[in-house]
Amino acid sequence: MTQNNKELKLALIGCGSLGRVHAECVSKIEGAVFSAYVDINQEAADKALADFGGDYATTDARKVFDDPKIDAVYICTLHDSHAPLAIEAANAGKHIFVEKPLALNIEACEEVAATVEKTGVVLMPAFKMRYYPLIKKAREFIPNPSIIVGQMMDNRWGDDKWAQDPILGGANVHSQGCHTTDIIRYLSGSEPESLWAAGGMMTHPGHECIDQCVASIKFKSGCVGSWVQGDSSCPPFTSKFFFQLYGADGKSVQLYDRLKKATFFDGEKTWTEVREDEEGFQLENEEFIKALSEGRQPELIVDDGIQATRIVLAADKAIRSGDVQHFST
Ligand SMILES: NC(=O)c1ccc[n+]([C@@H]2O[C@H](COP(=O)([O-])OP(=O)(O)OC[C@H]3O[C@@H](n4cnc5c(N)ncnc54)[C@H](O)[C@@H]3O)[C@@H](O)[C@H]2O)c1
Repeated sequence: MTQNNKELKLALIGCGSLGRVHAECVSKIEGAVFSAYVDINQEAADKALADFGGDYATTDARKVFDDPKIDAVYICTLHDSHAPLAIEAANAGKHIFVEKPLALNIEACEEVAATVEKTGVVLMPAFKMRYYPLIKKAREFIPNPSIIVGQMMDNRWGDDKWAQDPILGGANVHSQGCHTTDIIRYLSGSEPESLWAAGGMMTHPGHECIDQCVASIKFKSGCVGSWVQGDSSCPPFTSKFFFQLYGADGKSVQLYDRLKKATFFDGEKTWTEVREDEEGFQLENEEFIKALSEGRQPELIVDDGIQATRIVLAADKAIRSGDVQHFST
């Protein structure tokens, strides 16, 4: 509900696997409902309407932008359409929840940010890992880390996967890397100063997109981050997601098993905390709806989407040029 007790009406644009995950999450939250479903594939939109309920399904996104009953849109399409849809949505006065990455290039990210600022709508980039409770706990445990390790490793992505396409997806490092760079940046509590990276097209030789990346990131606080991203093989011991923090005071924490487990060391004793489930998707949806209902900005804003992509793009440049990259802002 909004401050005037109004139920928020949402539209889902992109009714594929992630769109449906978000529809499922919202169905468990009071105060907001999906009213409209948009997909270039009418069948996908119809199926979402049938499964989650609402008022209509369409192939035309303009219909929801022109619909005065719609308060906010979820953009869960392929990567080339995130920025254009977000810009249209903002210009229509709709609040926005957008799947990662915000865009595959910085110009598109900045155009989204300028439109969001001009129109005053809320835009929340979907970085679900921020909402895993143990990530937040790790940051509280070591608020000023000296070293961070962040790794996201998948099994090899199929050649016919849309996310492997240079324009629609950008391949592993550009598609998923922003999740990892967002968390490294968040855990650092700082902004990047410089970066060097090595990697290349190792699992997809001859492809134009980089698929493996090992980067060293120096933050303004003095913290150093080591970022490993790729699709060489999903490590059974740590799981796909793995983070490690070291404090200057002898403390450390390791997050593993898809961030459901964290082992803490306070300099004397060691203990492990366990979460039963992965809570990121549900909690990020709760935050978006709550922020809209309370008339405030969510914890994650458009700048977080830009900064995560900026680090990925700097790593790509470093890998191709061999040069250290410096961040100006
Ligand atoms: N946060 C996460 O953990 C996570 C995980 C997987 C995917 N994602 C992201 O979710 C988004 C969607 O991925 P997915 O796995 O659901 O893909 P998907 O292929 O399952 O679904 C995408 C849907 O969007 C539709 N579509 C494409 N272009 C459209 C357009 N211009 N307008 C309307 N509909 C359009 C397609 O027809 C399809 O139904 C991507 O940004 C992806 O990176 C995030």
